[in-house]
Amino acid sequence: MSTAALLALDRILVILVAVSWGFAGCHALVSRKAIPSALLVLAALLATACRVAVTAGLASAGWWFAGEKVTLALPLLLPPALAAAVVSLPRMLRGSFTPLTVVFPLAAAYAGVAGAAVSVGMGYPLAPYPSVVLVLAVLGASGATWSMLTRRGRRGRAWRVAGAVVAALAVAWTGLSMWNARPAAALRLSPSGSVGVSELRGPSGGPVRRFELTAKAATITLASGRRVEALTFNGASPGPALRVRQGETVEVRLRSELADRGVTLHWHGYHVPNGEDGVPGLTQDAVREGGSFVYRFRAGQPGSYWYHTHETPNLALQAGLFGTLTVDPAAPEGFDEPVALHTFGGALTVSVAGGPPADGTATRTVAAGTPVRLRVVNTDNGPRTLGVSGVPYRIAAVDGMAVDGRVLADERAQLAAGGRYDLAFTMPSRPVLMSAGAAGLLLTPGSGAAPPPAAGPLLDITRYGGGAQVPERFDRSYTWVLDRLVALRGGIPMLSHTVNGQVWPRVPPAVVRRGEWVRFTVVNRSGELHPMHPHGHHVLVLSRDGVRAAPVWMDSFDVAPGEVWEVALKADNPGVWLSHCHELSHAAEGMTLHLAYEGVRSPFTLDAHNHPE
Ligand code: C2O
Ligand code: CU
Repeated sequence: MSTAALLALDRILVILVAVSWGFAGCHALVSRKAIPSALLVLAALLATACRVAVTAGLASAGWWFAGEKVTLALPLLLPPALAAAVVSLPRMLRGSFTPLTVVFPLAAAYAGVAGAAVSVGMGYPLAPYPSVVLVLAVLGASGATWSMLTRRGRRGRAWRVAGAVVAALAVAWTGLSMWNARPAAALRLSPSGSVGVSELRGPSGGPVRRFELTAKAATITLASGRRVEALTFNGASPGPALRVRQGETVEVRLRSELADRGVTLHWHGYHVPNGEDGVPGLTQDAVREGGSFVYRFRAGQPGSYWYHTHETPNLALQAGLFGTLTVDPAAPEGFDEPVALHTFGGALTVSVAGGPPADGTATRTVAAGTPVRLRVVNTDNGPRTLGVSGVPYRIAAVDGMAVDGRVLADERAQLAAGGRYDLAFTMPSRPVLMSAGAAGLLLTPGSGAAPPPAAGPLLDITRYGGGAQVPERFDRSYTWVLDRLVALRGGIPMLSHTVNGQVWPRVPPAVVRRGEWVRFTVVNRSGELHPMHPHGHHVLVLSRDGVRAAPVWMDSFDVAPGEVWEVALKADNPGVWLSHCHELSHAAEGMTLHLAYEGVRSPFTLDAHNHPE
């Protein structure tokens, strides 16, 4: 069984164990009927055994998946469950319902509820203080039950006192945590260091390519004629397709005409100097109505990239504040265009070279024999499955980085949110269809019927291409455990997307020093896909689920439920860098953290105007 399936099963079993022991205990207490009570205990034992088996399966997939179950949840559950089997069950069958018969199923029920609390609220790694409170609560509740069943007045009072102490501890801890997690008026994430983010800016010399982007609300028209209220750059979404030659200095002046929110420009995947990264509260203040900000960076890396706002991106990027950035090493040949996939008003659209979005299939005429390169960008929150039919093709670049992979025929590839694949082929004398779910781009030499969308198997992008040098040793290692837990956001307990049990901005940063090779182990314990995106760097994918990758550089990679990815980052771009899930609703619900270089300070604050998540 896959780890994802085990995780899903475990979530069900946690509830089932608590409920079945609760039923068994209460039934024995109230009905005192031998056979039904015994059957309920047997059912609870079965659920418990399943939970143990599933935990063993998870532990064999990695300690991250089972740590808190093995160290806390099961040690609380197994003793009363075993006692219920050995002590309570024979008595029930004999029809003897003494306190000893009833107390163990009830204690197992308390432990089951505690196990559910561990699963929902604590996850991996365990925090010591709430663990102790939980253990005390289970022991206290079991003891109180025993004293009630045996009706011992004086000891009953002692138990009440103990219960009150545990409850007070729990309340104190909850109150303290809520106080600590309350929204700060202004929070500075990297307050000290000898180099300021504002000093880490782009160059001033060299040949300069200038662009102006003005953020404003506008109504855009899709190819079908449908009109959509959007947030745009220069009145269009996607915004202008920026295209420069490698080595040029890019200068983009951002202005805002947005009344209700700030805006920034983040250069997704581009290794810009940190002060140009466009993260409000970390590298700049969001640009407000009437304001402006000038971004400058040298276009050193060739390839397919994109830009988008990073102020409340889950709303503003999805509403249209994005565009493509293409850096050419030489004059482009043939039909070589950025293709942006974006959902507007619920419809998946395709925009070629910054043109108006087509909902459905866009069509272009391309002469047979023309070299074609489609620089597909996924600007949505979820993955897209890309396919090319009508011609064999190659993925010539992943996230802007050239790869040298085999020729694909009818195979498809999943493109992560934020990611880019360059699809390359030579135009045949019949039409070719690039398909992406409900949308597509049909290239036709002028005649012939469109081929059906590709339907072949899914390619494993981590095993495609290869040739990159893998570092032999690492200076540091970090583990990011992605999970779905109740966590305090702004002081209020909410179902959240967590990293190492915490939510932004309380996830501890990964601290690195310039020049280091850093290894990240990214573990997905949740039931959802997480397209992880570190800013300012690509990471070299080393393995997925223990299977060695044909190393590939990526800046947006899909970590599926139950998966473990090992990636390496070369710390060669000093700064304070955001790192987050590019399913931006997850990022907004906590799955955001940062990478901090030693010695770099940011003067900016997370406050009422800066919301990078
Ligand atoms: Cu497209 Cu913070 O990223
Ligand atoms: Cu996510």
